[in-house]
Amino acid sequence: MKSNMSIKPLYEFDQEKRQQIVRRHLEEPRGGEATGPIEGAYGEVYSVTFPTGTSPRRIAAKCPRIKRFGSSEKARVGIEQALHELEKTHQVFMIPWINRFFDVQFIHGWPFILSRYRDGSLEDLIANPLAWSVQDRFTSLIQVIRALRMAQERGIGSHQDLKPGNIFFDDLNRKGVPKTSDGMHFHMLVADFGLADAFRDFGRNSGSRPYMAPEQFSSEPLDLAVLPKFDAFALGVIAYEIFTDGRHPIGVTTAEVWPWRPGTGQKWNRESTWRDWAQASRKSLPANVNVLPTGMRALILDALSSDPNARPTLKDFEEQLWEALTRFDHSTSTGLRKQVDWFEGQSSSEADWPHMDQRLMQLRTFYSGVV
Ligand SMILES: Nc1ncnc2c1ncn2[C@@H]1O[C@H](COP(=O)(O)OP(=O)(O)OP(=O)(O)O)[C@@H](O)[C@H]1O
Ligand SMILES: [Mg+2]
Repeated sequence: MKSNMSIKPLYEFDQEKRQQIVRRHLEEPRGGEATGPIEGAYGEVYSVTFPTGTSPRRIAAKCPRIKRFGSSEKARVGIEQALHELEKTHQVFMIPWINRFFDVQFIHGWPFILSRYRDGSLEDLIANPLAWSVQDRFTSLIQVIRALRMAQERGIGSHQDLKPGNIFFDDLNRKGVPKTSDGMHFHMLVADFGLADAFRDFGRNSGSRPYMAPEQFSSEPLDLAVLPKFDAFALGVIAYEIFTDGRHPIGVTTAEVWPWRPGTGQKWNRESTWRDWAQASRKSLPANVNVLPTGMRALILDALSSDPNARPTLKDFEEQLWEALTRFDHSTSTGLRKQVDWFEGQSSSEADWPHMDQRLMQLRTFYSGVV
């Protein structure tokens, strides 16, 4: 990589030295303590904790994963990935249901995008059934759908990689909001816009297998004139997981088979397993699902339609969720409605963010200088 800086690129240090350098650079300007990284498919994420009284108390710093992108040939693709994620997230930063980035930091010519560290992810909630009530499950889903709807209004056609691990939350009880109030207890924040609109911007349709709509398994270009319906399909899977403590409508517990690891049946390592299920025109939900609240079974089956046109729009999906929640618990529905209005009212005044406009410009310029 030839960059505009003449310092040794981060990926040329051995792993231990590299992580030391990163942690020191993340800690220094703000006086915190850094740990990590944890690795995802594209990124690696460090956590930095600051002394009590500082705001934010803890941040996440995400960079293109060195093991995947750390070479002069691959760096450009990795940095493009980070730039894409920042572009998309910045386009929707004012939506209160989205995990925004508030800064960019370069360490030895490698970009880190910074966000607040959240209390956990939807994956954690699904794995801990006692941590949340049926009301909490409804209120979480509604916030996620509002995130996607509002993002669509701002030009993001599809998140394209919606899954519980990419949906974070903050626990409002921990923040001192009284537990007795009817409404949300978990503030949901959709994250990881790394693949958002990739079908359009990069000609890449795929996402994460258990959540992929049938059309995402094809590498043929999709019709760009129609609004994609991938997210509605993923939401169908996620809604089912939410109400069944992690079951996938294919008939297994998702976390037991995916991401695939040695020891898990080979069946679950085959793309065709997920593709064939996604393509099945008539899906049925496993019989023992009387745990689904009234109205949810039909909604989930519609969302899982192999024909994108038969899936509900995000608007329909949201309306049906409100109806189901109101039927289940009227006062939670009323309380949530007030909270949603409050959160969205707060952020409607946040149209501009010059600081992040500038950071985004810097990252664009940096990217265009990488050859
Ligand atoms: N702001 C944050 N707050 C809390 N956890 C975070 C935050 N950012 C990242 N994480 C953790 O790091 C993981 C990976 O982050 P992210 O999903 O952004 O990266 P990725 O490489 O695109 O991941 P994947 O391919 O696994 O989806 C998340 O699943 C989450 O556990
Ligand atoms: Mg992720």
